[in-house]
Amino acid sequence: MTTLIRFGVSLEKALLDKFDALIHEKQYTNRSEAIRDLLRENLVKKEWESNKEVTGAITLAYDHHKRELVNHLMNVQHDYHDTIISTQHIHLDHHNCLEVLVVKGKSQNAETLFHKLKSAKGVKHAGFTITTTGKNLH
Ligand code: NI
Repeated sequence: MTTLIRFGVSLEKALLDKFDALIHEKQYTNRSEAIRDLLRENLVKKEWESNKEVTGAITLAYDHHKRELVNHLMNVQHDYHDTIISTQHIHLDHHNCLEVLVVKGKSQNAETLFHKLKSAKGVKHAGFTITTTGKNLH
């Protein structure tokens, strides 16, 4: 069972006012949840920097008429079949495709995969949302 501990924090009023404005803008209803999220954000960042097992989602927007590009993206993805646990391909219009790759594995592997896909000639945009397996977070 998780033990909740209350602790006091001293802050300059101006900083606290800015924090309150920020968390209001981001739809938090109280400071505690906002602070918990900030802490988790940093812990997840640390997991990534320490090459821990992580999860994430890579998005790719590209024109599928560029035949060599499609082959290249497919080859790269097969090289990383251990890291990619799911893919979704959406035909956005006659030319454009959106691919979503869910990844799980060592963070360095996932990063390398992302950069190989992003740097492919013809990829219009590549995004990477990095997150956690959740195992070491509460
Ligand atoms: Ni398509």
